[in-house]
Amino acid sequence: MSDFDETWLALREPADRAARDGELVAMLASHCRRLTDCAVLDLGCGTGSTWRALNGALPEETRWTLVDQDRRLLDAAARLVEGREKVHFHRQDIRDLAQLPLAEGAVVTASALFDLCSDDYVAALVDRIASDGCMLYAALNFDGVIRWSIPHALDATVQADFNRHQQTDKGFGPALGPSATQSLSDHLSTAGYAVTIGASPWRMSGEQASLQRAFLEGLRQPLEEIGSLSSSQIEEWFAFRFDMIGAEGSVCEVGHSDLLATPPAA
Ligand SMILES: C[S@@+](CC[C@H](N)C(=O)[O-])C[C@H]1O[C@@H](n2cnc3c(N)ncnc32)[C@H](O)[C@@H]1O
Repeated sequence: MSDFDETWLALREPADRAARDGELVAMLASHCRRLTDCAVLDLGCGTGSTWRALNGALPEETRWTLVDQDRRLLDAAARLVEGREKVHFHRQDIRDLAQLPLAEGAVVTASALFDLCSDDYVAALVDRIASDGCMLYAALNFDGVIRWSIPHALDATVQADFNRHQQTDKGFGPALGPSATQSLSDHLSTAGYAVTIGASPWRMSGEQASLQRAFLEGLRQPLEEIGSLSSSQIEEWFAFRFDMIGAEGSVCEVGHSDLLATPPAA
């Protein structure tokens, strides 16, 4: 079991797809085309959104292994992924790095995962993938920036509180939250990787009203748990933010970044 329900993942998938940095996907595809046998291991696959985002860009014969600890999400992935003869579904806690089914020279992918992880975990994962000469594509890690085109006086506090909450333990030790991409970049560079980073922000207008509502709902518990705002301030801010969804010119941007890391020998 995990805290990630299928509905939330389905809601965010189109925004994730639109946000992914196309240049990094093109670089990844070009790397895969140069391999005689391209094997991709997707960590924390959820219902398979990374596969859906990349499958069309990668060589047809690419073999995929989708890994998640959550049986419900993995079952959903098995329903939602087509061409299953080239896709293997593997239930595993990815904290057990020794057990990861990594092949030498494989491509490791992960979307919306590393902001949940700790710096120690990233360091250990980088060690593990570097020893097998694997490339890493790490997409859609939250970068700590939330911008609303129509401001409210409490926006900065909300963002700061949410970012603090993002750094609480999500199962891997103190979470990186907004510093996920920096941590990946630092550890990968030290291991000799060539790192390229691209911005992948969500831009939500009235057309993404359901995603905006779900995103706002997801802020409630973190704000309450951090507790720097009073209940009435929180309620006032939410009332304003829900009212503004779909208002003329109203856009909410949630910053993310994508990273592609090429191993030294590639
Ligand atoms: C934010 S979701 C992202 C899912 C998917 N990559 C996507 O972009 O839609 C994080 C995923 O990581 C998985 N996850 C979290 N901790 C995990 C762990 N220790 N082992 C394996 N999977 C884990 C969750 O079950 C969830 O599917």
